[in-house]
Amino acid sequence: MIKNICCIGAGYVGGPTMAVIANKCPHIKVNVVDLNKQRILDWNDEDLDKLPIYEPGLSTIVSRNRNKNLFFSTDVDKAIQEADAIFISVNTPTKTYGVGKGMAADLKYIELCARQIAKVATSDKIIIEKSTLPVRTAEAISNILKNTGNGVNFQILSNPEFLAEGTAIDDLFNPDRVLIGGEDTIKGREAINKLTEVYANWLPREKILQTNVWSSELSKLTANAFLAQRVSSINAMSELCEHTGADISEVSKAIGTDSRIGSKFLKASVGFGGSCFQKDILNLVYIAKSYGLDAVADYWEQVILMNDHQKRRFASNIVKTLFNTVSGKKIAILGWAFKKDTNDTRESSAIYVADELLNERAELKIYDPKVKESKILNDLNYLNTRSSQDNINLITTLNDPYETCKATHAVAVLTEWDEFKAYDWKKIYDSMLKPAFIFDGRSILNVQVLEKIGFKVYSIGKGN
Ligand code: NAD
Ligand code: UGA
Repeated sequence: MIKNICCIGAGYVGGPTMAVIANKCPHIKVNVVDLNKQRILDWNDEDLDKLPIYEPGLSTIVSRNRNKNLFFSTDVDKAIQEADAIFISVNTPTKTYGVGKGMAADLKYIELCARQIAKVATSDKIIIEKSTLPVRTAEAISNILKNTGNGVNFQILSNPEFLAEGTAIDDLFNPDRVLIGGEDTIKGREAINKLTEVYANWLPREKILQTNVWSSELSKLTANAFLAQRVSSINAMSELCEHTGADISEVSKAIGTDSRIGSKFLKASVGFGGSCFQKDILNLVYIAKSYGLDAVADYWEQVILMNDHQKRRFASNIVKTLFNTVSGKKIAILGWAFKKDTNDTRESSAIYVADELLNERAELKIYDPKVKESKILNDLNYLNTRSSQDNINLITTLNDPYETCKATHAVAVLTEWDEFKAYDWKKIYDSMLKPAFIFDGRSILNVQVLEKIGFKVYSIGKGN
């Protein structure tokens, strides 16, 4: 039975996942460790508003379990030594150098974890891949762990995470399924069953799927590819809607009622963002290419190309509509996070749309209810398109949406935060320069109401 868990990586997955395990399994001690000292300090902060991750419901379960059976620390070695089971939940970004640059997953953090475990472990452990990894990564981890010569036995499991940000706690409390892949040997099956027991503390057994390691690793990449593909598919149709007078929300509803298609993940947008869809599909494309499967690789790459096109065409539509120039014009950006209910901005479409507008010398006033100015500047600086001083000169970040929209030529809605729908849009209209434009990249505002106020409205996927 697993009584002590170590989770390496206190990020968007490690933090919430371990908080839920600690909450549901009071008999298990859970140590979440990270190299990032500030992150650990934030997880331990008395002030729950300072938790490093904003996620509805997270602060309640952290405060309920923290320092009872849930601990956040930078002492990685101690946590490894104490644990029966170690979740590896570190980041696996796209490689930015060397072979596979721009496509393959960078596994250096995974390898470092495996080496550290190999170095300090003195008793048998179950090692659980929680991070999203290329198929057959377990083989590499196993090679590192099984050649230590210190007599310690390691069983490697794949247990990918399917939570979505913004709904992480609900997703963890009530997942569609939990996937556990392991070796088909006596020891492998024992390890799978031990991890199954952990999840069985709150989930019915039929929701816990057991597979071989490779199926589990590949299922995670496949799930993300299928989800992203739906967004690119509906976004492709949104462009056609705009040219034909069809309305993408009506099309989504019409096709989503077909039980074979289903209604979820059919919202047209300014493009999907987030830390995983793009990285995981690029990784899938790279894996397919490395097996010489060019047709498979090209098929999935198109999902990314469509997404890039959607972001670019949204930005160029703003420029075109504002009389082919935005130079010196003020544009309000509402929303910077890659989706609502999170403070995560990784790969957010807002970054790319803003960058295109800044290239055209627009002046941006930006508001997001959960994203801080420093993060917005970092995101833009990371692109390296212009100097950080230029970014500082061209953008202003405000805490108030009405101030943000005041005296601007146009408002661009880039995240679907619920609060945007409740604004006094008449008040906003009155404070803007005329003609006042709205570019709704999430199709969340009521076009007729806005037009009645006097706005000129572009809403993604809405035909004329
Ligand atoms: P993250 O960047 O938020 O967190 C990763 C953490 O690991 C960081 O805090 C980093 O400091 C720490 N870390 C890296 N190397 C370390 C080491 N050697 N020792 C200790 N700590 C180390 O990343 P994330 O969003 O939590 O994603 C983690 C993994 O989970 C990725 O593979 C991702 O693809 C996958 N995933 C993410 C999500 C999501 O919604 N974010 C969902 C499902 C799966
Ligand atoms: C996604 C998956 O949904 C999770 O199952 C997976 O665990 C996770 O990736 C991961 O591996 O990291 P996440 O990226 O957090 O979760 O959020 P999603 O809800 O999937 O949204 C991703 C992007 O697609 C967002 O920018 C969102 O706005 C966009 N989207 C989503 C649309 O444009 N339209 C939709 O209908 C749905």
